[in-house]
Amino acid sequence: MNVRDELPAYDNSSNFNIVADATTEPGTTLDNLKAAVQGETGASAKYALYAETAEATGYDQVARLFKAASYAEQVHIRLESALVVERDPDYVKPVAPECERLAVDLSLIDAAKGEIFETSDMYPTFIEQAVDEGDERAVKVFSRAKLAESVHAEKYLEAYNNIDAADDDVYYVCPGCGYIHKGEDFETCPICGAPKSSFKKF
Ligand SMILES: [Fe+2]
Ligand SMILES: [Fe+2]
Repeated sequence: MNVRDELPAYDNSSNFNIVADATTEPGTTLDNLKAAVQGETGASAKYALYAETAEATGYDQVARLFKAASYAEQVHIRLESALVVERDPDYVKPVAPECERLAVDLSLIDAAKGEIFETSDMYPTFIEQAVDEGDERAVKVFSRAKLAESVHAEKYLEAYNNIDAADDDVYYVCPGCGYIHKGEDFETCPICGAPKSSFKKF
């Protein structure tokens, strides 16, 4: 069994492979950072819309998860766009495309699919490129986002499975990496080490 006593990174983890049917075409790391900001911008806006539908139809737990995840994607946007602006001072942040309202159960599936794409296709492709370029800062930002997206997928599927169960757990979002924790039982972020006291509660 592989166990670690340090924070996860691409070179000490076993879950950074790229899926065989990957569709991500890597560009330069600067292009990839911009593509990531674009993707995260769309995801954050979509989750905010899905939160509205969930709230309006009485799915409060799901609404809070979507709000938490929408904020988590803003964390990724902040970290990635900071690296872009250093390299391209004229960079203009993208706007989110229009997105479609879905039934609450399908919005959870749609969100989980997007997160699985990001964690197993987009981010590992971008990480490989950044490693090739020796761009350690991009490797770190992409790697932490990649690990957080997998947790987002898990939380969405958990909410899907328990959609009709009574649940009032709070969600906590890490401001350092976008990790989401459900419930109170944790002390630090397992991805970046930030303390619970710094997390935003939903
Ligand atoms: Fe995510
Ligand atoms: Fe974190």
